[in-house]
Amino acid sequence: MNFDRLVDRKGSNCHKWDTRPDVKDIPDDLIPMWVADMDFEAPEVVIDAIVERLKHKIFGYTFPGHSYFKSVADWWEKRYGIRLNEEWIVPITGVIPGLATAVESFTSVNDGVIIQPPVYWPFRDVIELNRRAVIENNLLEENGYYTMDLDDLEKKVKFAKALILCNPHNPVGRAWRYEELSGMANVMQRSDLLVISDEIHADFVFSGKFVSSLKIESLHDRLVVLSSPNKTFNIPGIRNGYAIIPNEDIRQKFWRAVHAHSMRPNIFSMVVTEAVYSQGEKWLEELKEYIVENFKIVEREINGFKGIKVRFPEATFLMWIDFRNSGMKNPYVDILKKGVWLQDGKAFGTNGEGFLRMNVATPKKLLLKALRRIQEG
Ligand SMILES: Cc1ncc(COP(=O)(O)O)c(C=O)c1O
Repeated sequence: MNFDRLVDRKGSNCHKWDTRPDVKDIPDDLIPMWVADMDFEAPEVVIDAIVERLKHKIFGYTFPGHSYFKSVADWWEKRYGIRLNEEWIVPITGVIPGLATAVESFTSVNDGVIIQPPVYWPFRDVIELNRRAVIENNLLEENGYYTMDLDDLEKKVKFAKALILCNPHNPVGRAWRYEELSGMANVMQRSDLLVISDEIHADFVFSGKFVSSLKIESLHDRLVVLSSPNKTFNIPGIRNGYAIIPNEDIRQKFWRAVHAHSMRPNIFSMVVTEAVYSQGEKWLEELKEYIVENFKIVEREINGFKGIKVRFPEATFLMWIDFRNSGMKNPYVDILKKGVWLQDGKAFGTNGEGFLRMNVATPKKLLLKALRRIQEG
């Protein structure tokens, strides 16, 4: 796969390239590096699977067959060392729809739901739009390295019914270790809280191994894991995902809510899941090498440059860049004016202020052009 190839995405109603931030006086040729989708074409197996299904020419109601469940279970076994019981898998239309379904099903209006900012902002939206209360258990930061604050978590649990965990964590790039997950699980168990574990970035772990919340067996009676091949294979527009729920009562309740909203994945999402999970590994390994090279380029070009700090992430294809000592008053706007659209750290929580998130899943040529603009700025 040639990840250097620059594909013109403009004019495809693309969220990343066909929208602009609401800020005046920014260049027309803005380089967007905000939303977390990649500028790379999906692997050939995706195209082949869709074309094959298209040739059938009938697109009636369908259901996920046994091969779908098997492909998910096989992927989890070979990539993360966990053999899933196929009955635990509930197909859905995406991780965020799954998150909303879990919040609606297992908490009531005005209940508290804990998140760990700075964190992927739709978590907050899902909680608030469903009229639940956000409870913040801020992560602790030291030299750009983030850890969970379990003492604070212990204080907050009495106001909450559930915790939404981001594992691996977007935007801080942590891949939580077994001991950290165990510590969190102990607090959850003592206080009888549900854990909703968003594991969509599981395939992008670069140091150590991905540890799913499913590895913590004591969590199995209070756990909803959500994931999808969308991030991994750059197919989020296909709308696709699944929940993994070991506990039968929790699973049945989740199933009922999924059915109540008729949240069935479409035909293409099912054939694509099977295709990438059975034939996509080689492409993924090449992609990960490319992303590591891009991390190194960003580190080399801007870490230490005028007080900017950036740390090699353990996971995700996103870099969380610290501008707090750069002397810039508003780095988000200043960098926009130089022609690079990064994600404003504030969107991830008040403790994201002074940071910007950069999506490095883009051809090197474009990445270098963006870094030059930032340096010149
Ligand atoms: C942590 C996290 N969860 C969920 C999503 C989106 O999931 P979906 O498109 O399947 O709803 C993203 C996308 O960036 C993400 O970073």
